[in-house]
Amino acid sequence: MNLGGVSAEELAEEFGTPLYVYEEDIIREKCKLLSDAIAYNPKKLLFACKANSSLAVLKVILSENWGVDAVSPGEVFLALEAGFPKEDILFTGNNMSDSEMEWVHKKGVLLNIGSLSRLEKYGKAFPGSDVCVRVCPDVNPDVHPHLKTGGLDSKFGIWIGEAPKIREIASKYDLKIVGIHAHIGTTIMDLVPFKETMNLVLSAAKEFSDLDFVDFGGGIGVQYKPGEPEVDIKEFGRFATEKMEAFSKAYGKKVEYRIEPGRYSVCSAGVLLGKVNTIKKNPQKTFIGLDANMAHLVRPSMYGAYHHIENASNMECQNGPLETVDVVGNICETGDFFAKDRKVEHAEEGDIIAIENAGAYGFSMASNYNSFLKPAEVMVSGGKARLIRARAPYEALLEGQIY
Ligand code: LLP
Repeated sequence: MNLGGVSAEELAEEFGTPLYVYEEDIIREKCKLLSDAIAYNPKKLLFACKANSSLAVLKVILSENWGVDAVSPGEVFLALEAGFPKEDILFTGNNMSDSEMEWVHKKGVLLNIGSLSRLEKYGKAFPGSDVCVRVCPDVNPDVHPHLKTGGLDSKFGIWIGEAPKIREIASKYDLKIVGIHAHIGTTIMDLVPFKETMNLVLSAAKEFSDLDFVDFGGGIGVQYKPGEPEVDIKEFGRFATEKMEAFSKAYGKKVEYRIEPGRYSVCSAGVLLGKVNTIKKNPQKTFIGLDANMAHLVRPSMYGAYHHIENASNMECQNGPLETVDVVGNICETGDFFAKDRKVEHAEEGDIIAIENAGAYGFSMASNYNSFLKPAEVMVSGGKARLIRARAPYEALLEGQIY
């Protein structure tokens, strides 16, 4: 398997497994594709860094002139550390504490507030300042229930019907609402909910007189299964442009268009490599047991998510044909799997297995569960690989412990 001009097996040999590998060219290509698809100006694309907050990845995104959508003070800290200007970071926290609010405000980063009570607290603490407000448009895309964020059954945002109350609090504290924001969910393949959200949010935005930008969140789905349809990015950019042009004309000012995709730019750039430690057969199943696990890539266990899997050591089936197998990890949980009853090229112990589309919500969701160490990470560019996060030593498991 070729990863940006380097063989997966060589990478596994050099850096060990489990290993996350990112291809810089793919990240750049995806950033450009999306930017170029949106003709409207002014625009700002923010990278939802919850998808991948490794500094080397953030630096690639920075050099594509994207900003950052940060969900926690920790992400604000990492974005600043990567070199993003504070003006290009939006902090969309939810259920934040007073001290988090104060810390982020002190850094000069704009806050995106998703509850009336927090807006009130923000106004009291920082009267006369700028703020962005997250609304809930009550749009429900057809995705896994855990991945919906735009309905009234979700904890996010202020119901769009409370816009008058938002204005009331803002005027009480002389707050300038410079941005309106909505994010309806993730892995969305259908453009209809995006269009619906734009209509609802822009119609509410008309009633806010100080807007510099409108941010429609992230959520653009990507192709996980080979052959699945992809989101029509050109059409996405076309309708965004059309709606923003019409809005700006009516508003009497060119308002900046923002979106904040995470998955779109990094997902297909990343692969998780694991080594086959054990092959076990019983009358029902063949298990391919890896040295990677659900704590390294939790999406299959957590959302039943499909990640395409190939045997990097037997890509052409030279060592045996496709077989139906369960690809499992080394954690002490039955839910520790990457694929069930999946056709994968015949594997032998010692082979390198590639779990694909792992660049988004892979390492960033990894933990040390069962006290396994997290994978190392490498970036491949110009046919060369460089380590961007070293494999932690066992001592990392002691960090911060008082005993
Ligand atoms: N903006 C906000 C406010 C968000 O909450 C999110 C994702 C995004 C942007 C980026 O969404 P994206 O473009 O990446 O779809 N762990 C899940 C994904 C949870 C995403 C939560 N919010 C997964 O592995 O699929």
